[in-house]
Amino acid sequence: MNPYDPQRPSPPESFAGRARLIAQTQEYLERGRVQQFSAAVLVHGHRGSGKTSALRKIESLTEAAKGDTLAVEIPLHQTSSDADLLRSIVQELHSAVRRRKEDRGRWRTALERLQSVNVSVLGTGVGVERSATDTSSNPLTLWRECLEALEGMATIAICIDDAERLNAAGVGTLKTIAESRSPVPVLLAVAAGPEMVRRLATHEFSPVARAFSGATFDMEAFSLTETREALEAALRPSHATGTWSDGAVRRIHDLSHGYPYLVKCLAHAAYRDETRLTEHDVERAVPLALETAAPWLERELSTASDGDIRAFVRIARSERDSLRSSEIIELGINSVYIGRLVKLGVLKKVAPGHYELHKAPVIAYYHELKRRLGGDGRAPRSRGLGTDAGAGS
Ligand SMILES: Nc1ncnc2c1ncn2[C@@H]1O[C@H](COP(=O)(O)OP(=O)(O)OP(=O)(O)O)[C@@H](O)[C@H]1O
Ligand SMILES: [Mg+2]
Repeated sequence: MNPYDPQRPSPPESFAGRARLIAQTQEYLERGRVQQFSAAVLVHGHRGSGKTSALRKIESLTEAAKGDTLAVEIPLHQTSSDADLLRSIVQELHSAVRRRKEDRGRWRTALERLQSVNVSVLGTGVGVERSATDTSSNPLTLWRECLEALEGMATIAICIDDAERLNAAGVGTLKTIAESRSPVPVLLAVAAGPEMVRRLATHEFSPVARAFSGATFDMEAFSLTETREALEAALRPSHATGTWSDGAVRRIHDLSHGYPYLVKCLAHAAYRDETRLTEHDVERAVPLALETAAPWLERELSTASDGDIRAFVRIARSERDSLRSSEIIELGINSVYIGRLVKLGVLKKVAPGHYELHKAPVIAYYHELKRRLGGDGRAPRSRGLGTDAGAGS
């Protein structure tokens, strides 16, 4: 049985690393329990960096914490307004409490109270009529009523995934949720792509950014130790019998640059039960790992030259989302490539001499691996597959 599934977020029991995020979440849960303290956490990163996995971990830490805690996940599948967001949260809380009502008397009481909050009217936007006789309720009022219905419970974690899909009013609502004077402690956890961070850096959204101050986590590449943990942590819950040698772990880390999605693709491709997996096994598995990643990544940058990919890899490895041209050149990139990367949509020019990274690093690493371009001391070695550049310029 293969314990690695690159196409799914990591289950909480095999979630690896991210120690700072876990410690912060636990501290907030404790302060929620002891001091009725509400808090907000922002997790951000490019595609495949582990945002959903991190939210699932926060949900599981919440549900494992002491007291009548509850976690709900709200994945945003499309552009969402403040009313859409509040409606989804209230509806999710409803369903989650309903699932709990058999647990203990307190949940049953909470459900009864929640049922008097009329969610059905929330679909049509702010200011809709709550009923024929009540024209005062809007989504925000219903949200507050919902919190009141949950009074007396322990922390309620509200985990919003793909929050870059919120419109401006929706983003503003995050602050309202984070700072609601609530009779039940709320832990708001928001996961979003890098565009969200850029929005929060603007003047318009600085009050929202403040709600997350001190608790903003960039899902960077894994360290070598985290890569090892990600490989090993998946073995235990699935009773898998393979093991990873040090050489194999290092090879996966080097080839993937510690990028979580690629770590999982390589692990999935190389894994065998009842086998001590070696560096050689990892090398042999590269074509299969690339095949696994291809449906998502193959179409991205298929026209880029090898030089473009090398330049993109250097930028990706700098782990910076915003760069000046002088900083790009300091990375050892010829200025010609700046214009080329802009054309390819990798960089976006936002002001003279100022660029933002607009494509996920995993795309650079995929092509580097596919074309065997490795450099910077992380070169794929010639063993097995050769190092010749396969494509492009
Ligand atoms: N901390 C972690 N421990 C173990 N595996 C992880 C971790 N973070 C991410 N992964 C793995 O990396 C891959 C991508 O994770 P995930 O789906 O959470 O990323 P994402 O940032 O939500 O991606 P997307 O932007 O596509 O929504 C998955 O295969 C997941 O199992
Ligand atoms: Mg995700």
